[in-house]
Amino acid sequence: MMVAKMNNPICGKNIVLGVTGSISCYKAADLASKLTQQGAVVDVVLTKGATNFISPLTFTSLTGRDVYVDMFDPSSKQAISHVSLAHAADVIIVYPATAHTIAKIAHGFADDILTTTILASRANVLVAPAMDGFMFENPATQENIQKLRDRGIFILGPSEGRLASGFVGMGRLVEVPYVVDSLEGILGINGDLDGKNIVVSAGGTQEPIDPVRVITNRSSGKMGFAIARAARNRGAKVTLVTAPNALPSISGIDMRNVSTVEEMREQVLYACENADVLVMAAAVSDYRPKNVSDQKIKKDVTVKQNELSIELVQNEDFIKDVPETVLKVGFAAESENLLDNAQKKLIEKGFSLIAANDITSTESGFNVDNNKIIILDQSGDTEDVPLMSKYDVGNRILDRVVKLLDVQ
Ligand SMILES: Cc1cc2nc3c(=O)[nH]c(=O)nc-3n(C[C@H](O)[C@H](O)[C@H](O)COP(=O)(O)O)c2cc1C
Repeated sequence: MMVAKMNNPICGKNIVLGVTGSISCYKAADLASKLTQQGAVVDVVLTKGATNFISPLTFTSLTGRDVYVDMFDPSSKQAISHVSLAHAADVIIVYPATAHTIAKIAHGFADDILTTTILASRANVLVAPAMDGFMFENPATQENIQKLRDRGIFILGPSEGRLASGFVGMGRLVEVPYVVDSLEGILGINGDLDGKNIVVSAGGTQEPIDPVRVITNRSSGKMGFAIARAARNRGAKVTLVTAPNALPSISGIDMRNVSTVEEMREQVLYACENADVLVMAAAVSDYRPKNVSDQKIKKDVTVKQNELSIELVQNEDFIKDVPETVLKVGFAAESENLLDNAQKKLIEKGFSLIAANDITSTESGFNVDNNKIIILDQSGDTEDVPLMSKYDVGNRILDRVVKLLDVQ
């Protein structure tokens, strides 16, 4: 079933998927399927080597399209398919890429339909190497990969792990979700936030009590991560300053891991020196323990009459230190008086926009994939954003950001 997703840069794009003769070819079937499900037109090109590992029929069945193997196939409907594929492609991805095909691309060979298509195309090219560890480490392969990098070809991986030989090393093909994530970013390069620097904060800060315990909150970081991904997919250069979380990292963005409010303050202010926009999606702790114990606090020593008091001091609000030139977007996670509290925060902190987030709802808010917000602006207007994925909510906020940046 084809799912045309809102704000998905992959949807509607012409993607040439080159598959070469590696044992990991089977993963390309999953990639072809995922891209097709997301609404891409996927033209698969197999090297002759690849046909030893996987059949063209697999890809025809998954994509619903012809699969190309032979450059000189007289039965091909397209007389000059290598050129037509090359010109129609929005992006070309070689997944998996053997050492042999990488060498051919590096030296400009055009002796099969894949390498000829790459040579004849102006589209961005992504190459995901997969091979034995020694093949990967070989200076010939390293030089070839460097040549591709120098030419602006995106190299994905390889990763370290168990290889087909049974050895553990570098050479493992990167997984499909990583490729899809990278493709989204690359296809969004010329989006409406192209040339803009956006800083996003995410997650719940942690304030230490002792070496073991922290004061934190229930923020998962999902909203901030979704905004960062959405901004990258619209062409922005994104810095994501994130408190500890369990989320997969996002390719193509500058990720800074922090823990305490003070660390977040430092990184956000540093990134904001060159930023156009700051989106504060992090749940920043208002208080921290006044004294942090060097040693783990023991029950028997510290607890008197079954009680333990921890004195807290207020954390400084660093929003006021963000340069005035930066357009600021905030979040108000509230359990009562949603609009009044959000409006107050908008004015007090000088946000251009604020997303009011009712955290009492179980279907939106903390640690779920969907959200429902109300966007308030400086003129007092409100916009209801109904329940949708956090990624789509992020895009609704960014739609407003784009409009404000246009006016500035
Ligand atoms: C079982 C088997 C697995 C192979 N796996 C890989 C691989 O993962 N990476 C690689 O670079 N070559 C691998 N090779 C070698 C390539 O298939 C060979 O170099 C071939 O010429 C590649 O041609 P192509 O790049 O045109 O597909 C493998 C060969 C065999 C027999």
